[in-house]
Amino acid sequence: MTMIREFSGTTMDITERVSNREDVDVSNKVAPTGDKRSRRPVIQARNVDKVYGNGTTALKDATIDIKQGEFVSLLGPSGCGKSTLLRIMAGLGEASRGTIKWWEQDYDVVGEKGRKLAFVFQNATLMPWAKVRGNVRLPLDLEKYVAGDVDKRVEQALDMVGLSRFADAYPRELSGGMQMRASIARALVTQPNLLLMDEPFGALDEMTRNKLNDDVLRLWQENGWTIVFVTHSVYEAVYLSSRVVVMAARPGRIVEDIIIDEPFPRHSDFRVSQSFAQYCKQVSFALEKASAMGQEGKV
Ligand SMILES: Nc1ncnc2c1ncn2[C@@H]1O[C@H](COP(=O)(O)OP(=O)(O)O)[C@@H](O)[C@H]1O
Ligand SMILES: [Mg+2]
Repeated sequence: MTMIREFSGTTMDITERVSNREDVDVSNKVAPTGDKRSRRPVIQARNVDKVYGNGTTALKDATIDIKQGEFVSLLGPSGCGKSTLLRIMAGLGEASRGTIKWWEQDYDVVGEKGRKLAFVFQNATLMPWAKVRGNVRLPLDLEKYVAGDVDKRVEQALDMVGLSRFADAYPRELSGGMQMRASIARALVTQPNLLLMDEPFGALDEMTRNKLNDDVLRLWQENGWTIVFVTHSVYEAVYLSSRVVVMAARPGRIVEDIIIDEPFPRHSDFRVSQSFAQYCKQVSFALEKASAMGQEGKV
């Protein structure tokens, strides 16, 4: 059964529950810089098209594998289908053509032990009438059965994003960055191992964004998650990712797949390194090319 909550027109949370199966190794304790060959695919999209009801082709022939432990950024001009692809990866939208597998199987394995995914949106979409604690525990309240102590899991999620002291504050009492942290805690409370983030820091100032970038990187490494992160910032994509996937518009398609072969953990000195500048140049060039492709297809 799928439970999808709509707030302010945005799908806020997805929680899946089906019976436990143990036939797939879902251990996510793989070092992010470990042997890439041994990593299992978490998502396999093959020749995916998406045509919306109004005839817009948002995605054309998208083929991409996301492996366990990767931090993959989707980068591209506005309207190139980043959100569409991410939503299909989340099971929130169906492909018009092509196939998609989760943990090498159909979507019905999502929600089983070790196969949880969570979605973080650009806007924090917190319930204004509930305290931070209440917002964060919402996904657990929506689940029929929750393993472990709910209060403890909420505390842990708040602790992970550094919001423990603000558990009893209302969203309006928090800064934009703190609201985003609360939104991330609400995703983490389900203990996902696949995190899908759609421009989560796009509305924040640069300092706050840099800080949250470091926090997400730290949590990703500590917990062995797999992350797919949508952004339109070249710098953010290069700083965070083990791979940057560049998309072009009209129709939305994947045009480049660039490995950022730099060790983790990454620190702020990476931002001012020569290697960072070189990767940014390479990714910017790919993005320019992708934008030009989108213009050609414009009618
Ligand atoms: N629900 C929808 N119905 C019709 N067209 C849509 C819908 N959602 C997105 N689109 C269109 O699909 C294309 C890709 O959109 P989107 O995936 O949101 O791109 P991005 O996230 O890269 O900006 C755009 O042309 C957009 O206008
Ligand atoms: Mg988008």
